[in-house]
Amino acid sequence: MPALVLVGAQWGDEGKGKIAHYLSARAHLVARYQGGNNAGHTVVFGGRTFALHTIPSGILVPRVRCALGNGVVINARALREEVRSLERAGVRVRGRLFISPLCHMVLPYHVLLDSIREEAGGIGTTKKGIGPCYEDKVARLGVRLCDFLDERLFAELAERSLALKSAELAKARRLRSARAQTFAGARALRAFLRPFAADISALIDEALSRGRRVLFEGAQGAMLDVDFGTYPFVTSSSPAAGGACVGAGVGPTRIGSVIAVSKAYTTRVGRGPFPTEMEPAAARRLREAGREYGATTGRPRRIGWLDLVQLRYALRINGAERLAFTKLDTLSGVDPLLVCTAYRVRQRVLREFPCSRRDAQGAEPLYERLPGFAGDISKARRMGELPPNARRYLAFAERRLGAGIAIVSVGPGREQTIARGPLGWTS
Ligand code: GDP
Ligand code: IMO
Ligand code: MG
Repeated sequence: MPALVLVGAQWGDEGKGKIAHYLSARAHLVARYQGGNNAGHTVVFGGRTFALHTIPSGILVPRVRCALGNGVVINARALREEVRSLERAGVRVRGRLFISPLCHMVLPYHVLLDSIREEAGGIGTTKKGIGPCYEDKVARLGVRLCDFLDERLFAELAERSLALKSAELAKARRLRSARAQTFAGARALRAFLRPFAADISALIDEALSRGRRVLFEGAQGAMLDVDFGTYPFVTSSSPAAGGACVGAGVGPTRIGSVIAVSKAYTTRVGRGPFPTEMEPAAARRLREAGREYGATTGRPRRIGWLDLVQLRYALRINGAERLAFTKLDTLSGVDPLLVCTAYRVRQRVLREFPCSRRDAQGAEPLYERLPGFAGDISKARRMGELPPNARRYLAFAERRLGAGIAIVSVGPGREQTIARGPLGWTS
């Protein structure tokens, strides 16, 4: 059975965790293919809230197996903490989580460099060391999990990488602590990680060949993609659906469908262009209604109106045929609802997302105004239970995007979900 890829269609935090967990109930294997613990995926069910960072949301469904493909970067200490915190909550992880030996390790010097660069005025990263780790991977200076598990090789590779970074670390007076942190507790971390190592490409291939359902859970979002996002205000990996192939070792012929997750409005954390960003008072209201604070850093998220130019672009680069629309409930009481259908850039009307950073920054959104809806919609479980104006809002988006909304989410809880039609997996 072909795999299903779930991706973020905006600048991250679209509600991928909630939807991935919802879909995991029907999956056998859930895999991440990029990013690291810069991600924060929130899952709410049974009265409990979980924030996952590196581990796929499928871990919260008992019989599901989870995988971290080669494209994921691993911070061993953070992963150990995540595993322990899940175990404290009664979730079995060992024997269900598998990690590719080809994953690159996020080492303490990556985290320090990320912080040093941010403090000197960066792009507003999560300071988790993600950029510096992927830099090392591409520069062929990285330490993979299989290298980390080899004590002598790890020491050699880490020393070589540290030597090349010594000037930058020394300037910030962090060289000594970088070295100390890199080697501290490494033996225990090796012992912890070793049992998780497995050939993820083979695991996925076997599952697919047996007709099992495999779900790829994207992190970040299309507009944070290193190629297609609002460069340079992006992350350092490929969240777009194509990333699942290179980041997990599966060929494109094994992928059957792509669902893109979008909020019913837009948010972004960190710096960079955001054409439909709202004025502060309106943003404040939605931020509080939707509790829009980062799951990883706690930073207040920037808030904007729904942007169909941006979403159309995201559907195209992901090859997504369907959408999951989240947080419709948060828009209740907002009237009118503004929806961006084009940009004006240097006196010209543009219907495509501009690649020039100057144009993206200067894009003036052209809005259509739709009537709002009011009242508590979080108990709606069928489309017919939504107010007519909420349905009009969804139908407007579907028409302009040329894509169906397969899932509507009306609250953070698992059950607060309206499923409409097939989800990419036939029975
Ligand atoms: P992710 O990174 O894409 O997984 O998204 P986050 O978990 O970072 O942010 C989404 C937030 O919205 C989380 O706090 C979710 O619990 C919450 N959420 C998801 N879907 C809905 C929804 O339909 N309504 C409301 N009110 N909250 C939602
Ligand atoms: P999830 O998976 C929202 C943003 C950061 C910053 C940029 C680069 O929860 O949707 P990085 O630390 O990756 O080098 O930061 O990317 N960013 C996210 N924004 N959700 C995320 O993940 C993000 N991961 C990174 O805020 O602008
Ligand atoms: Mg998040």
